[in-house]
Amino acid sequence: MGATIVVDALWGDSGKGKIAAYLAAKDSYALCIRAGTGTNAGHSLSMDGEQFIKTRQLPLAGLTGTQQLCVGSGVAVDPVVLAAEIEAYDALYGVKDRIRVDYRCPVITPEYKDREAASPHLTGTVGTTASGSGVALTEYRMRSAIRAGDHPALQEFACDVAALANTACREGAGVLIEGSQGTHLSLALTRDYPYCTSDNCTATAFADDVGLAWNHIEEVVLVLKAVPSRVGAGPLPGEMSIDEQDRRGIAEYGVTTGRRRRKSAEMPWDYVEEAVMLNSPTQIALTFCDHFDPGYINAEQPTASILRFVDEIEERTGTPVTILENGKSMGDIYERAAGDGAAIRTP
Ligand code: IMP
Ligand code: MG
Repeated sequence: MGATIVVDALWGDSGKGKIAAYLAAKDSYALCIRAGTGTNAGHSLSMDGEQFIKTRQLPLAGLTGTQQLCVGSGVAVDPVVLAAEIEAYDALYGVKDRIRVDYRCPVITPEYKDREAASPHLTGTVGTTASGSGVALTEYRMRSAIRAGDHPALQEFACDVAALANTACREGAGVLIEGSQGTHLSLALTRDYPYCTSDNCTATAFADDVGLAWNHIEEVVLVLKAVPSRVGAGPLPGEMSIDEQDRRGIAEYGVTTGRRRRKSAEMPWDYVEEAVMLNSPTQIALTFCDHFDPGYINAEQPTASILRFVDEIEERTGTPVTILENGKSMGDIYERAAGDGAAIRTP
């Protein structure tokens, strides 16, 4: 078994944390690893009938399981956010002993958060999440950052996640890499600089965040939001009005920032095709299907309009749609069987 990487096709907020958590609960991955820029992205999931869990630092995948919960060396780590997640979930799921933070991760300090919040360019023009991740990655590249292994609050978790991941794959254990944000928010691949995040958000960028060698990548799951959205600034093709969102009953607010998401009334196919080119996915998970067709209630029974949409996606991308999702809980996920024309593949 090698690595599976979960990556978002567009501008994030597509429920990729939940898809990663679903794959982790289903398959025997030894390690779940959070990749991406830092604590800017909130990943959330509603436990069936119970609790709402959300993470900004730890992978959501494996949180409620027994896997090691890792943070790759390219990801900025905020000790305050990590402590809050331990506080929130350790008693319930025993997370503390399973946490492994690469000793080379750059640390987000309170000063970095203040600097980001005080920058009119970042918070105003770009519309950042003010998490301090961008400043931390900048200081890292200036060779001025503190690293996790040198930070008193992080030392107990510090280890070589790159070695753990590559060794696990070499020994046949599975590794799940949970990416964050979205392909079109990538710093060096966006069409919309400066309306982007502070690093790339593609499958290979996430492998690089971990230090995973290329030949261990076996599956890339591209998460596509059936009704795309964008937060912060930057163009959103086919953007619908707030009234239209409310009329359709599909308003959404950010997990990290509480900001209302802008939403698109149509699938921006050229952006999807570019995401397929950049990520070369082996399968697609189509999420927020209930926003596309409010009549899609029971996950096990996709409606005719959803199935037509799936056909169109498969035709345009040449990639099987293996997962459909139509709500916030784990139960709202439908895995398409081989007979439906697609089957989930795991390494
Ligand atoms: P930053 O990553 O906080 O610097 O924000 C830069 C841009 O990326 C802003 O437009 C943010 O709204 C957007 N962004 C950052 N993280 C996420 C995310 O998790 N989901 C969606 N957009 C994000
Ligand atoms: Mg990176």
